[in-house]
Amino acid sequence: MKKITAFIGSARKKATYEAVREFEQNLKSYTDIEFEYVFLKDYRIEFCRGCKLCFNKGEDHCPLRDDRDLLIEKMEDSDGVIFATPNYSFHVSAPMKNLLDRIAFLLHRPCFFGKVFTSIVTQGIFGGNSIIKYLGNMGENLGYRVTKGCVLNTLEPTAKSAQEKNSLEIKKAAARFYRVLVRQAAPTPSLFRLMMFRISRTRMKEMLSEEYYDYRHYKAKGWFESDYYYDVTLKPFKKLMGWIFDLAGHRLAKQN
Ligand SMILES: Cc1cc2nc3c(=O)[nH]c(=O)nc-3n(C[C@H](O)[C@H](O)[C@H](O)COP(=O)(O)O)c2cc1C
Repeated sequence: MKKITAFIGSARKKATYEAVREFEQNLKSYTDIEFEYVFLKDYRIEFCRGCKLCFNKGEDHCPLRDDRDLLIEKMEDSDGVIFATPNYSFHVSAPMKNLLDRIAFLLHRPCFFGKVFTSIVTQGIFGGNSIIKYLGNMGENLGYRVTKGCVLNTLEPTAKSAQEKNSLEIKKAAARFYRVLVRQAAPTPSLFRLMMFRISRTRMKEMLSEEYYDYRHYKAKGWFESDYYYDVTLKPFKKLMGWIFDLAGHRLAKQN
């Protein structure tokens, strides 16, 4: 049975929570799943102090003592996650942004390969599409397989036509999520993802040393030599582009 966890960034159990409930029901119409609700308001998530110890020395050196690791454990224990948030001033809510800042070291050392990510944004009027894009980008950089999220207009009182439109969007989002959830094969990286990996790992290899945690992590994982983060067969064109991106990373490292 698949385990799905929804991380909810609203302080109230209203539009965002109701949207996640509807998403859950849709998903359950396809398969048996275990579904957990994580209301971020119930967890201690401190503000990042920007010391960068997590990047350079390792996350265990973080001076903050909060629920970061508990929330990461929940992500690790899930086959799929939903990041659901109201649009607050054209961005995710503060608790959700805090969580994303607290796990930013995982953007350097992604680990959620094979797991699925989507997002749900509720809003009064406008701005949700860029939030969905932002969250999708975060998901990809954390290693997830991202399926397009949905933006729901929940201005109160919500007209029946808006409710119906929202239900349709949720239904389509759940179908997209399910299709990837049951897909076995690890995806071949897009050219963009391949470029990001190859340029950054080559720069890291040439510019950092054993004293940096990122360097030790990449070395231990074999990422300085591998084609990508995980085992994947690249077709000749992408293989060639991979070498070119390595070369670009090498040039950039020399320029520094
Ligand atoms: C502080 C605050 C900022 C908001 N900013 C926006 C905004 O920039 N754009 C928008 O369309 N709606 C905005 N809204 C409306 C909420 O996104 C909307 O009501 C949402 O559905 C609330 O979700 P909830 O019922 O789960 O709390 C804002 C609401 C609050 C409280």
